[in-house]
Amino acid sequence: MNVIETKGLTKVYSSSFKKNKIQALVDFNLNVERGVIFGLLGPNGAGKTTLVKLLLGITFPTAGSATIIEKDISDYKIKEKVGYLPENHKYPSYLKGGEVLKFFGKLSGMNGVNLDKRIDELLELVKLSQWKKTKVKAYSKGMMQRLGLAQALINDPDLIFLDEPTDGVDPIGRKEIRDILIELKNRSKTIFLNSHLLSEVELITDRVGILNKGKLLREGTVKEFTEKKEEYKLVVDSTDTEPGNFAYTKQPDGSYLVKVADIAELNRIIDDFRSKGILLREIVPLKSTLEEMFISLINESERNNK
Ligand SMILES: Nc1ncnc2c1ncn2[C@@H]1O[C@H](COP(=O)(O)OP(=O)(O)OP(=O)(O)O)[C@@H](O)[C@H]1O
Ligand SMILES: [Mg+2]
Repeated sequence: MNVIETKGLTKVYSSSFKKNKIQALVDFNLNVERGVIFGLLGPNGAGKTTLVKLLLGITFPTAGSATIIEKDISDYKIKEKVGYLPENHKYPSYLKGGEVLKFFGKLSGMNGVNLDKRIDELLELVKLSQWKKTKVKAYSKGMMQRLGLAQALINDPDLIFLDEPTDGVDPIGRKEIRDILIELKNRSKTIFLNSHLLSEVELITDRVGILNKGKLLREGTVKEFTEKKEEYKLVVDSTDTEPGNFAYTKQPDGSYLVKVADIAELNRIIDDFRSKGILLREIVPLKSTLEEMFISLINESERNNK
């Protein structure tokens, strides 16, 4: 089941002051299946927040349509099942952590003992139990993000939108947030994450999309993004014999890097090594990081736009 489906979703911001229109999202098509962690990556101004706001009915599409949990985004009732952590969220500084959650719980139609119980569970989950009665003005950035995450989960949503959830959070706090997200996924929740912290996205997301200037450049699994299908490292036993007739780069450690068109070519190269009596110890498919992939995709799209 697709929990998010968009068809030709487009958003153009126009202001009466400025003549120019901003194409924040252009013909955006995406399906996200239930139970996955999806990461939307893109540079500043790519349109990530705009997409989330469209899906949540905070702003309206110029063209196209979308459904969340199989209901049209104009159906406000569906929000009962949705959680949202906005980017740069701020809570009134005079409220205590527990009071913030109570306020949002009541907005979600919860009250009484059930709400009190839920608040304590969530504070426990985000490790803020001992800060329940402290005003949020004394919270650090990391604590505010964790409180925001608790807020997004107050109504036990099936679909959770998190806009830059680990922004300003230190490495230990980020690991804690990742663990919470994995735990939510194990409970069949769907998580839609906006981020520019690529190394982090790589660790937890099932699928990623790369957005630039409102356009979805590519979508797929992290593995698809990072696997260099055509490049291999061949590790051999030390030898004075050199292999033959194909392009390779010899590494300082004595291994060979080869680029091949397909698996048949790889095997021809292996035959060549073997025919010269060179013993192969390892054949390693090479990978790039998500960050390298991201930068090359964005650069390529910038070149094509010129
Ligand atoms: N309310 C608005 N009115 C006019 N333009 C807007 C509005 N909101 C966003 N934009 C513009 O739309 C484009 C996409 O913005 P958006 O906030 O969706 O990007 P983003 O990918 O979330 O960026 P960031 O990583 O900085 O959060 C930008 O050019 C932005 O200036
Ligand atoms: Mg944003």
